[in-house]
Amino acid sequence: MTLIRTVVPELLDDLDMQDPRAQRSRRDLRRLHRIMRTETILLDALRKISWQRSVSSSSPRLQVLEIGAGDGSLMLGVARALQGLWPAVSLTLLDQHNLLETTTEQGYANAGWRVSAQVCDVLDWAKPEFMAQLISGTAHWDLIVSNLFLHHFDDPQLVLLLDAVAARSNHFIACEPNRSWFALAGSHLVGAVGANAVTRQDAVLSVRAGFRNRELCTLWPVGEDDWVLEEYPAGLFSHCFYAARTRGLRADARS
Ligand SMILES: C[S@@+](CC[C@H](N)C(=O)[O-])C[C@H]1O[C@@H](n2cnc3c(N)ncnc32)[C@H](O)[C@@H]1O
Repeated sequence: MTLIRTVVPELLDDLDMQDPRAQRSRRDLRRLHRIMRTETILLDALRKISWQRSVSSSSPRLQVLEIGAGDGSLMLGVARALQGLWPAVSLTLLDQHNLLETTTEQGYANAGWRVSAQVCDVLDWAKPEFMAQLISGTAHWDLIVSNLFLHHFDDPQLVLLLDAVAARSNHFIACEPNRSWFALAGSHLVGAVGANAVTRQDAVLSVRAGFRNRELCTLWPVGEDDWVLEEYPAGLFSHCFYAARTRGLRADARS
């Protein structure tokens, strides 16, 4: 029997960022990423990219955007692991809250990555007017990443969001909850590793809103003639989507 995808607002998203329950839940999230081996899964997906072929010549740094980035600590681990292996990176962490701490910023600097926070609702970012109003800043990204984020949105929202991602990037990687019975059972056990009530509820909601099979490929707006698309289960609890552009930019994405 297949789990039907259900999207319900998560507790963490509605808590004030200073709320101790939210702060504790974000710490839980870091621990859960270690258990889920998210950094390794992400690095495996990132290794598929060959920058020699695709890096934009207009900027000396790779322009990377993480949407729904949280506190940016997950990508910091990635930055450290890729130090010396990737060209220089300029990373933007987009989230509805500014959660970037000075120590995290310093960590990126030590890894040779420039980092900045962009505070906005990603559904506003996805609107065409957002790009039309952009006076400075990046209009096109070498890579967009998302972790435990796409599952917050229902299918019509995902169509809009993925359309903007496809128009504005050359590569996209998403690491999401795998909507499987095994992951659902695991999500009911996060209390055993000390997760608080917010994390315990959100973990179950996340798996129920997660993905399986080729669900994200189906929502991707562009034909597979223009993009290489891969979608696969990863580790015990995750589901990955990888998209790499094979042809030129869409006209509406050029800045
Ligand atoms: C489950 S957390 C994941 C954080 C981070 N990517 C990670 O894996 O540790 C989801 C994040 O998405 C952010 N978020 C939720 N809805 C959003 C929206 N509509 N626009 C921007 N950020 C949003 C939340 O503030 C939260 O930081």
